[in-house]
Amino acid sequence: MRVPNCVSGAFSVLKEFIGVVAWCFFLSAKALIRNLLFFWPRPYKDISHEVVLITGGGRGVGRYLAMEFAKHKPKQIILWGRNEDMLNATASAVKLSKKVPCDYMICDVSKREEVYEKAELLKSKYGNVSILVNNAGMVSGFDVLDNDPEKMLMTINTNLMSHIWTSKAFLPSMMQSNHGHIVSINSVLGLMPLPGAADYCASKYGVTAFMENLAFELASEGYSNIITTSIHPYIIDTPMFTGISTRFPALFPPLHKGYVAWKSLDAILTNSPQILLPRIQYFLLFFRSFMPVDAMMAIQKFAGVDTCMHGFYARRQRNKQSKKL
Ligand SMILES: NC(=O)c1ccc[n+]([C@@H]2O[C@H](COP(=O)([O-])OP(=O)(O)OC[C@H]3O[C@@H](n4cnc5c(N)ncnc54)[C@H](OP(=O)(O)O)[C@@H]3O)[C@@H](O)[C@H]2O)c1
Repeated sequence: MRVPNCVSGAFSVLKEFIGVVAWCFFLSAKALIRNLLFFWPRPYKDISHEVVLITGGGRGVGRYLAMEFAKHKPKQIILWGRNEDMLNATASAVKLSKKVPCDYMICDVSKREEVYEKAELLKSKYGNVSILVNNAGMVSGFDVLDNDPEKMLMTINTNLMSHIWTSKAFLPSMMQSNHGHIVSINSVLGLMPLPGAADYCASKYGVTAFMENLAFELASEGYSNIITTSIHPYIIDTPMFTGISTRFPALFPPLHKGYVAWKSLDAILTNSPQILLPRIQYFLLFFRSFMPVDAMMAIQKFAGVDTCMHGFYARRQRNKQSKKL
């Protein structure tokens, strides 16, 4: 008996669907086991032929990232930022202590034309960037109505748009060789809200979306060797968020910038797509996926997160007043 075409078509779609479900289960189980066995050593990839660009490499996390990269002996490290003294200090420290070629260029990453211009100059001097680390960031830190529109725009341009401009500048050469790595130093605020930091959260949520989309786009176009990694840390002990404090500061102290850099390198060298620091953030993210908004608000209130930016504003106001005096 002949099976009608529509039945055999439906049967083959069903077979394909079952295959996809089984494949998804396999990949999820693999990821779960990999995450549970986080203490299990995983091989690091070799970066001895890579040219690494770190934006915001002069100070803070960027400086520690440069030092951490240097331990793995890449071919060249280049730092971008606006403060020459800081960039020079980091580049000298890397060259002296780790004996790795490290140079810097002044580049304001919030400005598209400047990014393109400096990218061309960089390529002519050092060759194609194969590991791009978008780390530069800023926070304006006021609630929506009190915040200066120019500062809000600067936050979006620095934290989000710079990732897009640098990717547009350096992706084409990565695509030509189907080889490269794009890293974003994002934040836990790219996944969860914080009252009093709407523009910062909007910029970081935007980076989350951009990086996820980029990964999907590259995969759908067959660029299997261009990797994306997103790092989502909680508060770090740099001056960026000084003054911020939650109800239980001893339970959740700021992360050390050296630790963030070390974990970032671990994620980069093992081609991990995304990590949250510290690990407890994975639970929060899990709860957030099914809890109603008012339940999340109750948790934030209990932990003092809803008002934690008040100390930050107070510091900003004090700084402003002392500058006026
Ligand atoms: N600190 C935290 O609590 C925290 C938590 C989670 C995520 N993060 C993220 O981690 C990253 C690093 O922050 P951090 O803590 O190291 O802050 P930081 O100490 O304030 O350093 C910020 C870095 O970004 C650079 N930068 C800022 N605007 C720039 C611009 N327009 N063009 C070029 N470079 C620019 C600065 O360099 P110049 O001054 O030389 O321009 C500096 O190197 C940021 O993306 C931040 O959002 C921070």
